[in-house]
Amino acid sequence: MISNIITKGINGIPNVPGDKSISHRSIIIPSISKGTCEINNILKSADVLHTLDAFKSMGVSITENKEKLLIHGKGLTALCESKNPIYLGNSGTSARLLTGLLSAQKFKSVLIGDKSLSKRPMGRISEPLTQMNAKIYTTNGSLPLTIKSSSLKSVNIDLKIPSAQIKSGLLLAALNIQGETTIIESKITRDHTEIMLKSFGANIKITNKDNKKIIKIVGQKELFPKNIDVPNDLSSSAFFIVAALINENSHITLKNINNNSTRNGIILALKKMGAKIKLFNQRTNNNENICDIEVITSDLNGCELGPEFADLMIDEYPILAIAASFANSPSVFRGLDELRVKESDRLKLILLNLQNCGVDCKAENNNLFIYPAKKYEVKKNLIQTDFDHRIAMAFCVMGTKIGPLEIEDSDSIKTSFPNFKDELNRVGGEIF
Ligand code: S3P
Repeated sequence: MISNIITKGINGIPNVPGDKSISHRSIIIPSISKGTCEINNILKSADVLHTLDAFKSMGVSITENKEKLLIHGKGLTALCESKNPIYLGNSGTSARLLTGLLSAQKFKSVLIGDKSLSKRPMGRISEPLTQMNAKIYTTNGSLPLTIKSSSLKSVNIDLKIPSAQIKSGLLLAALNIQGETTIIESKITRDHTEIMLKSFGANIKITNKDNKKIIKIVGQKELFPKNIDVPNDLSSSAFFIVAALINENSHITLKNINNNSTRNGIILALKKMGAKIKLFNQRTNNNENICDIEVITSDLNGCELGPEFADLMIDEYPILAIAASFANSPSVFRGLDELRVKESDRLKLILLNLQNCGVDCKAENNNLFIYPAKKYEVKKNLIQTDFDHRIAMAFCVMGTKIGPLEIEDSDSIKTSFPNFKDELNRVGGEIF
């Protein structure tokens, strides 16, 4: 895929698809509820379809049409053993959440994934589950992974790594454990699982003490069915937001976007940089905050972001780095350790590709420094993505300013935003 310079700006109303995190949970939680749930606006991307296929292979009846999914859940213990290993493609969220859920089932499961997922750390979820008595066998800490049936016990767990995937995996395991499981978080991670479990009637209580979040969940209580309208994805919107900010003559509106306060760091960061972004029509749906977002071309300043921002926007650093490359002063983003273990080593690829685009930048102790210039001379126009969708989309946006850039393995974009290229072209992009 080639991303070319644009001249007339990014304008109109880009259609952003359903939120990826909420879409995964909108399959998993209804599948173990007792009754039929209607799910609207689910993201039909490769990652989410892997979660969907996983539950079909475990006997859940799911009817699909263009607009909605009907998921016929039969309760907490009604899943059955998949005949084949469960293939999860590129999806870390599916892998961590399913490892938790399946640890507490009465059958054996084998989880496998693509080349990138098979390199990602699974010890971070299998270790706390092992404390609950789960029987999980990884391959050198990664997939393929086998989960054997075991009777889990309720424990107190202090989360060492800030990760919504780990927390959610543990909560899903706890649903099938007798007694009260306690999970303690000292850093913010996205809370879609807690929000959804609460609305499905789970026995879950959340309190805050000494800057820690304490989640208590009592298991073996059936979940009742609920319909879900999946809001649109802020992470996917971020590519359009930055494209509009850095290109002259741009003005876009994004509709029905999830604005969960555990995840909106990109908006806070860009506003701190002077971005003209307006959130309006703020409302809630299924207890998730939603809004519309208006963005116009802006002169951006550089900024310094501490590690607390990483908790609120870990997926958005590739696109934030592009915004920072067009600011009028340097930026430093601190505490990006978790970027190393995403779909690729994102810190490495941000640096490599920005440098190839002519941007002066460096990383020290997982802090990223960007020194923008007025004009860039591209040194190598082939963007290495290691099959990472967010690196591919971020550098597509870079291409709208300094292209042509050739984006390697751009097929990865299907994992989260299958229509990305068409949508960007519809509002002014020049991607071929
Ligand atoms: C996700 C959580 C985040 C994020 C990922 C989706 C989720 O990962 O990077 O894209 O849906 O729970 P961690 O929780 O491991 O940071």
